[in-house]
Amino acid sequence: MTERYSKITGWGKYVPPKVLTNADLEKIVDTSDEWIVSRTGIRERHIVSPGETNSNISVAASRQALDVAGLMPKDIDLIIVATSSPDHFLPGVASQVQYQLGADCPAFTLTAGCTGFVYALATAHQFIATGAYDRVLVIGSEVISHFVNWEDRNTCVLFGDGAGAVVLEASSQPSGVQSFVLGSDGSGGEYLIVRGGGVAYPISHEMVDDKAMYIEMDGRKVFKFATRVMGEATLQALDKAGLTLDDIDLLIPHQANLRIIELAARHLKLPMEKIVVNLDRYGNTSAASIPIALVEALEEGRVRDGMNVVMVGFGGGLTWAAAVVRWGQPAEPVEWPLVWRFAPAGHKVSMAASKVRLQARQLADVASYHASSLLLPLYTFAGRRKPKSKREE
Ligand code: ACO
Repeated sequence: MTERYSKITGWGKYVPPKVLTNADLEKIVDTSDEWIVSRTGIRERHIVSPGETNSNISVAASRQALDVAGLMPKDIDLIIVATSSPDHFLPGVASQVQYQLGADCPAFTLTAGCTGFVYALATAHQFIATGAYDRVLVIGSEVISHFVNWEDRNTCVLFGDGAGAVVLEASSQPSGVQSFVLGSDGSGGEYLIVRGGGVAYPISHEMVDDKAMYIEMDGRKVFKFATRVMGEATLQALDKAGLTLDDIDLLIPHQANLRIIELAARHLKLPMEKIVVNLDRYGNTSAASIPIALVEALEEGRVRDGMNVVMVGFGGGLTWAAAVVRWGQPAEPVEWPLVWRFAPAGHKVSMAASKVRLQARQLADVASYHASSLLLPLYTFAGRRKPKSKREE
């Protein structure tokens, strides 16, 4: 059997227009631009406005990714959304993205904290490598600002909202995802936690008064963990791909803290020119940080054909992951004049198809309700006339 590879053929990002600077935060909590920049490297972050949800920012990033890949939503076989800040517990945000995009495929949501995107990429790669699917849309999307306690200076200065998406397609060329490592250590779960709202600490007035629906973090413990696993995971993923540190052309780390990235770079003896850093403008966008950084690197022409790109993340769980991707096509969005010209119309058609499906289902529901109301007397009558069983006699 020919080996199946999975390669990134489309990419897109969306960050909300509203910007929250360090100066804005100085007015909210006891902090300073100097403290935030020197401890984290973050200068500003983007925050959603009312009406912007996890699903619709995911859709915005996905549409770009589909346009770059020259695909329509109907071409996608599977959608995976990595997030820790979904619109609802139920339904999963991935299904809402599938519906809003107008795609007709399975979809599921995956939670692995900030590591989620690399977990999702590895999962998508497996579906392609086994031959189950040919085209998977992988999204990292967060509206983490809704889970931040804006009175807690330990956390509120760190996070931002945004979404990044890639299209992963089956290929016979040995490019794309070369290896991955995934890790988890739940013993550190409490270091980065939303204590309330789930089964362990259900929703109640007490839970709300306790502010347990917000992210709490032991920053120093996460810092120590992150600096250790970033280097280790990178080396393991390289080893699995049969590569060494010298083979890395570009490292795309999770964008949590510049000091963590610099320490990892020093540990790996990698020059900062080979590392993508954009957290100064976006803060920590959790599962969206790696795909947003990848898209920016592509837009800046930093990713070229044949390059080895390593993506490495860490986050709540605790979790960590790294993936080696060999870039197998020009970084510039490929020109597909027809697709580009008709893409917006195509998205509208897909969305319209979704709406038609919704209306058809609603009609079918109404019809089946009326049918069952009509049939109920018949069932009742038949039930009454049912002959008694021998035991009842
Ligand atoms: N402004 C001013 N002072 C502050 C602020 C702030 N925003 N936040 C904390 N401080 C204070 C603390 O209260 C503390 O004061 P104290 O010494 O009087 O108690 C002091 O600054 C130093 O606090 P530290 O925690 O030691 O600061 P540190 O240098 O470790 O930096 C930080 C804190 C930035 C949180 C760092 O530990 C870090 O980045 N950790 C990793 C966090 C991370 O990556 N989280 C995301 C994980 S990914 C995911 O899944 C979401």
